Formats: sequence, structure tokens, C-alpha cells
Amino acid sequence: MPTMKPAFEVDKKGLAKLLARRGKHFAVLELIQNALDEDVREVKVVLSPASKRGKWQLVVEDDSPTGFADLSHAYTLFAESSKKTDPEKRGRFNLGEKLVIALCDHATIVTTTGGVEFTDNGRRSLRRKTEAGSVFCGTMRMTLDEVDETIAAIESVIVPDGIKLTVARYRGTYNPGDPVDGEEAVQFDYHTKLSMFEETLPTERADEEGYLRATKRKTEVEVFEPREGEVGTLYEMGIPVVETGDTWHVNVLQKIPLNTDRDNVTPSYLKKVRTFVLNAMADELPKEAATAAWVSEALSSKDVESEAVGAVLDHRYGKKRVIADPSDPEGTKLAVSQGYTVIQAGSLNRDQWSQVRRTGRALPAGRVTPSPKPYSDSPDAEPEKVIPEEKWTDGMRRVAGLSRALGKKLMGAHVSVRFVADVRQPWAANYGPGRLCFNKGRLGTAWFNQDIVGGSGGVLRLLIHEFGHHYSMDHLSSEYHDALCKLGVKLTQLALDEPEFFEEWT
Ligand SMILES: Nc1ncnc2c1ncn2[C@@H]1O[C@H](COP(=O)(O)OP(=O)(O)OP(=O)(O)O)[C@@H](O)[C@H]1O
Ligand SMILES: [Mg+2]
Repeated sequence: MPTMKPAFEVDKKGLAKLLARRGKHFAVLELIQNALDEDVREVKVVLSPASKRGKWQLVVEDDSPTGFADLSHAYTLFAESSKKTDPEKRGRFNLGEKLVIALCDHATIVTTTGGVEFTDNGRRSLRRKTEAGSVFCGTMRMTLDEVDETIAAIESVIVPDGIKLTVARYRGTYNPGDPVDGEEAVQFDYHTKLSMFEETLPTERADEEGYLRATKRKTEVEVFEPREGEVGTLYEMGIPVVETGDTWHVNVLQKIPLNTDRDNVTPSYLKKVRTFVLNAMADELPKEAATAAWVSEALSSKDVESEAVGAVLDHRYGKKRVIADPSDPEGTKLAVSQGYTVIQAGSLNRDQWSQVRRTGRALPAGRVTPSPKPYSDSPDAEPEKVIPEEKWTDGMRRVAGLSRALGKKLMGAHVSVRFVADVRQPWAANYGPGRLCFNKGRLGTAWFNQDIVGGSGGVLRLLIHEFGHHYSMDHLSSEYHDALCKLGVKLTQLALDEPEFFEEWT
């Protein structure tokens, strides 16, 4: 029988080229990620120039008591990662370490269970081992920019509570184990935690057979203030995943569903996270953030809470706000005249409107500043309020006669007149097409006895106002305004042409 060959062979140089697009700095994050998955108190990262020009040595040391449980996992691609079943550990693909080794011209790993060396020619075991902890030491070609990017990547890590991350950039040779507290150490402040909350989020977890499955789980989520110059980023247990440009860094303390490049999440996952962050941070939302893309996205989610919607609308439109109301254009204008900000239909998208309506955080103008509603003139509307003609006083008959006559003179319209007595209605009179109604409950008996031409002009004023509605119901429209002007002119002409007309009513 011919001897079998391994199913796969890996071309290390080819793999390294594929990785180039992720940038060299990803390597250090894979190594830190692995260290943080262990029971560590301190992780040290040191970059130093290697003896060959253009090459740098990257050392990552940790103090995990157990070290690598199985050192063969350092070079076995896609072995079953024991971390797959633990939502609170970062590793799952059993890939990261190998990618880093592929980038290195030379690398060694020394841990409690032994050591291994990787060169261009292959791999061999080392006799060395550590008492505790593991040391990764790799050399790779890096430009000065790449060194800077690597340092920046390390600084961007959100260091878990209780763990110390030490970073140094040496000018001379660094030997693993050397102290790094001198001037070579990179000084950086840990990120400031603003808040923490619990929510259920999608995650992935291996089932009994080792298959990674999408599932949901309650997790803690932390919100951090980005440092000066940092861009808001989504983190998985302290390791940056993707820049979001949002107001804050968001650190999810369980596995995030990730691609093998570990550099993105699905839009729906991001929307969930953003919504929960807005819910948790509504009180602290800065004004300028209220129009940010992430807030707009959260505002369209069915999970957005009422307080969060309120906070966003407060910032965008002020507390005194109404929704433009096509069913009550006059009410909408009244709102403006009373100092309300009117939210136009186009200001929000369909999903955002659904959430505003669901939470009632802004109401249509027709409900907040309704236009005066005329008394219903359907015959069966509270007939007991209508004053029958035989009960009209002389004053009422006189006003009714004047109204009918003026209706004909000024508008050429036949106007029928009736009176109601209803103190609960806020209006003194109203006008529907060809129907004028006086509310004696508001006007009082004496009003109908006043001197029509010589007095304060109260009756004529009311008639002009009501006849204006012959042309428009909307007090704030230009049609209504024009109608009042026209009526003024007509009335003046009448007074000049037929002064005797008024004698009848004085
Ligand atoms: N610093 C370390 N201390 C102890 N064990 C480690 C360390 N780094 C790596 N390991 C072990 O080596 C294995 C391989 O690491 P690798 O990064 O390739 O895979 P992973 O972390 O399991 O998954 P992922 O590809 O998602 O990172 C890990 O599963 C872990 O058991
Ligand atoms: Mg890993």
C-alpha cells in the first residue's frame, strides 16, 4: 500500500501573503486575545528591532499558571478549540496563532508543557519550558508605520478589570523576561468605563458535536469613552472588532458572531447593539449625538425604549414639539404660532415613525393644538341646545336679519341663521357653508341688543370673521386673510353706496 500523505499542506508564504490585507497589527491582537483567554494577571508586549534590518521582534508574555494545555495546537490548524463551548472566551476557530506564525520568519513559543520553534525550513521542539506562563517570540518584517500601527492596536485594547497590560517599544535588544518599566514602556491610560448593562444578544457556541451554532444569551455590555482621537469601536471582550464611528466604544462580554477575519459583524447585530446602547445611555446622550447615524438606526428599532425615543426627540426638536398633521392643517399652524417645533413627515423614515407613534413621544398637532372645531350642524346634534325661533329675543331677530341681509349683499349667499345656548362650547359663533350659528351661551343676551353701527362694532366684527369662513375654514391661511380684506372692501362700498341699508338695523 502506498503511504498516505496528509490531506492538506500549508504553504506558509502563501498564507502570509493572504494575511497581508489585514495589516500586521492584527497579529498582536490575536496573541493578546489568546493570553486574555487564559487565567492571566499580567500580559507584556514588547516590540524591538531584530538583528536584521527592517525586521522586528514581537514578544508576548503572559503569566497564566497552566500555559498551553496542548502545545500541538500552536501549529495544528483548525483543531477543536476547547474555547468554542465557552461564550466568555474569545477563541473559537483554532486559527489565530497559526496566522501569526505564518507572518513570522522565525518564531518560538515556550510554555509550561514545552517549547517549539518555527523557521523557514519547518518546525522543531525545544527542550525549554517555563514554570508558569507562556512566551511567544516572533520576528517579522515591519515598516516603522506598521510598528506604530501595532502599538496603536495594543493601546486600543480595553483591558479587562484585574489584568495589567504592559507595552514597550525597545530601541535595543530585548530578551524575554527583562523588566519593561523603564523609558521604553509605552504610557497609556486605560479606557474610562461609563456604564454597564445586561441584554440578550446573539452569540455562537459549539454544540456537543463541536459545531458552532448561532444562539442567544444574556450578556454584560460595557460602554466606554473613546480616548482623544479614537473612533468609536465595537469590542469583543476587550479586543477591537470593527470601528463603528459611534459616540462610544461598546464592549460585549461574550462571543460576538464573527467572520474568521474577526473584523466585522452583521448589520442586524450592530443595530441590536446600538439600540441597547441608546436605551441604556439615553440620559447621557450628548446633543450632537442625537443626529448621529447610529442613533437614527436605533430609533428605527422595535426594541428602542420610550425614554430613549424621548431623549432623541428632545435633542432634535426640543420638548415643545408636535407632528405635522395633514388632517388638521390649521392645528399645525397654530402649533407653530404657539412656539412648537413641527416635525415634518420627511424628517423620519417609516420605521422611525412607527417607534415614535408606538411610544407616543410626539403627538400630531391636531391633538396638541387642535383648530377650533365648529359645532356639529347635523340636525340630531343636541337639539335641546338649539333655541327655537319663538324664543328669540328682539335683539336676536335683529342680528339674524342683519346676518341674512349682509350675507346676500357681501357674498351673494343665502345664509340661514340659528342660535344655540351651550356654555361648554368655547366658540361664540361658527359658520359652515350657508349656515351661521350664534352661541348665546357665550355671547350673552345683552350682546344682541348692542348698537350695530354706532357702538363698538362687535356684531359686524363677528360677522366679518364668520363670513370669512365662507371662503376658508383655516384661520391661518392666506385664503382666509384675503377673504377678510375683500369683505372689508365690500362693506365699505355698501356703506358708501347704500347708507340707508344700515338705518334699518340701528
Ligand atoms: N497564551 C496562551 N496560553 C495558553 N494557551 C494558549 C495561549 N495561546 C494559545 N493557546 C492555546 O493554543 C490554541 C490555539 O490558539 P489559536 O489562537 O490558534 O486558536 P483559538 O484561540 O482557539 O481560536 P481563534 O482562532 O478563534 O483565535 C488555543 O486554543 C489555546 O488552547
Ligand atoms: Mg486565538
